[in-house]
Amino acid sequence: MRILSGIQPSGRLHLGNYFGALKQHIELQEQHDCFYFIANYHALTTVQDAELLREYTRGVALDYLALGLDPNRVTFFRQSDVPEVCELTWILNCVTGTGLLERAHAYKDKVSKGLAASMGLFCYPVLMASDILIYKSQLVPVGKDQVQHVEMAQDMAGYFNTTFKCDVLVRPEAKLGEAPVVPGVDGQKMSKSYNNTVELFARPEQARKAIMSIKTDSTPVEDPKDPTKDNVFALLKLFASERETAEWDARYRKGGMGYGEAKKRLFELFEERFAGPRQRRAELAADPSYVDDVLHEGGKKARAVAQQTMEEVLSACGLATSRLEMAVK
Ligand code: ADP
Ligand code: TRP
Repeated sequence: MRILSGIQPSGRLHLGNYFGALKQHIELQEQHDCFYFIANYHALTTVQDAELLREYTRGVALDYLALGLDPNRVTFFRQSDVPEVCELTWILNCVTGTGLLERAHAYKDKVSKGLAASMGLFCYPVLMASDILIYKSQLVPVGKDQVQHVEMAQDMAGYFNTTFKCDVLVRPEAKLGEAPVVPGVDGQKMSKSYNNTVELFARPEQARKAIMSIKTDSTPVEDPKDPTKDNVFALLKLFASERETAEWDARYRKGGMGYGEAKKRLFELFEERFAGPRQRRAELAADPSYVDDVLHEGGKKARAVAQQTMEEVLSACGLATSRLEMAVK
């Protein structure tokens, strides 16, 4: 099965990215034909500083590799190494109504926060559909906030195939991970843009500080607490075994336990999970050419698949064909 997903290099990755996306990306590599990429064209809608974009792109690559992504199994690449996605974006733009894009939650949220929308932000879901469809992806593992975008890709595949009376584009399905929405330290959805993250590869002291700052209610230590309403518990249960989660659940409900204790345990579990990858990341970072080579090789493989699809797309809509023979590289 062809699986595909992307993450924007628009900041440092956090627990929401990990439990919502990366963890399942890495698990899926064992059994499927996975394509994962760093969505740097998408990040350009927000990061408009070349040095910073390069740094974040490299950072996301290191994060994936440190967490166990195996570049021998997965096609791992930078979005911009396959410029054909921009060409397909144009073609999809021509069969997609503006009404569909005006309904996109991510776009509506940003506009409602007073951010001036660029054309890039408005067309963001079309570029994302193009990413998905150009590799004929069947399954797209993402967090809940991206499901609407995958549904739009389904719509666009349909518009294209109907308009050009063909079945070139494949309808994808979204796949949610174990934690569709991970809360941030303030209780809202954890997001790079809300300043409420626990970063995966921050220094341990910084991670401890972020975890200790998680917002809790003011129930006194001795009183019973409702674990289902607490942000610390929501994160704790992502790390703890089922048995340990049940024990914490009981302790919350019984009373006599302060939130500080749960935070301390959460930090311990965070360290157990990420101290190893942190070490591996430092080793990988010491050899910049390794990461460059991995992304370069992945880009070549991905581009060959994309060019094949584009031959079919161009032919279906009456544009140039025989590009592969022209082989302008
Ligand atoms: P951010 O909101 O921090 O900018 P992205 O939009 O780059 O994150 O998301 C990358 C991936 O991580 C997507 O698949 C997204 O659904 C997932 N993701 C991001 N934040 C969360 C969260 N708080 N809970 C679950 N999944 C998330
Ligand atoms: N929009 C996604 C996000 O912010 C990133 C992304 C770009 C993506 N293209 C994609 C995810 C294609 C899945 C498939 O998280």
